[in-house]
Amino acid sequence: MITKEQVLNALSHVMDPDLHRDLVSLNMIKDINIDDEEVSFSIELTTPSCPLKNKIEADARRAILTMTEAKEVNINITSKVSQSKTLDLSGNCFKHVIAIGSGKGGVGKSTVSLNIALALVKDGAKVGLLDADIYGPNIPRMLGLDRLPDTPEGKKIKPAEAFGLKVVSIGFLVQAGQPLIWRGPMLHSAIQQFITDFDWGDLDYLVVDLPPGTGDVQLSLAQSLPISGAVIVTTPQQVAVDDAFRAANMFEKLETPLFGIIENMSFLEMPDGSHQYIFGEKGGERLATLVGARFLGSIPLDPGIGVGGDIGSPVVLQEPLSPAAEALISIARNIAAEASKEAFKKNQAG
Ligand SMILES: Nc1ncnc2c1ncn2[C@@H]1O[C@H](COP(=O)(O)OP(=O)(O)O)[C@@H](O)[C@H]1O
Ligand SMILES: [Mg+2]
Repeated sequence: MITKEQVLNALSHVMDPDLHRDLVSLNMIKDINIDDEEVSFSIELTTPSCPLKNKIEADARRAILTMTEAKEVNINITSKVSQSKTLDLSGNCFKHVIAIGSGKGGVGKSTVSLNIALALVKDGAKVGLLDADIYGPNIPRMLGLDRLPDTPEGKKIKPAEAFGLKVVSIGFLVQAGQPLIWRGPMLHSAIQQFITDFDWGDLDYLVVDLPPGTGDVQLSLAQSLPISGAVIVTTPQQVAVDDAFRAANMFEKLETPLFGIIENMSFLEMPDGSHQYIFGEKGGERLATLVGARFLGSIPLDPGIGVGGDIGSPVVLQEPLSPAAEALISIARNIAAEASKEAFKKNQAG
């Protein structure tokens, strides 16, 4: 007869490769059921976007088959997004606030923010997207949204919603085509209100599309948000990398953890399958090495991204099997893994 202790002992040899601890001491094993030679249990991961889901499941199965008498193993993968302790704000709960920044505009920061948010939704997470780019709040157009839904009198303001994603944009508050001029203190309080006055509810991830650059505005904005980690988008050219380097330094000054670097518009895939490096090669990876952050992945040039962005049909939903969408989905999972690691580190530190 197989015992629960034997099952737990076997699983205590299986490591979470990101957290470097075993599944049992991480308290991830739930609902063990033993029926003769058939062992069933759940593994509760720290994010539904875990990039190592398949490896963890295979390792667990192998451990049970080799270390107990079990002939059959049923594993149910669930998730509960782990949280560091500090992010309950006026009735909203944000488990992770992820800021997406860039050194300059036009590198694809908004495209990446939106598609990453949607990739996390597709994996089953509760996600919000805050478009805080005061210079170019483009997210509403990318989703085909033009205003907030009506909110009943006396209630918190409801975010807009598209494809299961909650969205608030500074663009909802200004007339289309009007120039956006914000004074520092006004901006600071506007952004804080985006967090406190809206009914976001409980979110696993709030993705924030920051304005490009590293000036006072960006600094003040980043300070007014409870950011758990930042991600920087760059294109491969040296000039873009130089500016992205300044953005990385800005987050370092703010003591915001840098979850990593994304390289966008990395190459064009030719009809014969070869890659044409139009803007140069590996700028993103060089930057990641330089600032000691993780390289989260590169996204190819894809004409469908530009078209989709203009007509409200994001690539991860429209063309989920395209190389660009696959890159974005993998990057989203890498970010989720970094957020889990950061929460784990913070919680360990008490
Ligand atoms: N990988 C890509 N392939 C093709 N076009 C892209 C890609 N990434 C972004 N774009 C396009 O480039 C333009 C700028 O992207 P955007 O996300 O608005 O940049 P940013 O927010 O950094 O200013 C948009 O028209 C967008 O559709
Ligand atoms: Mg933008």
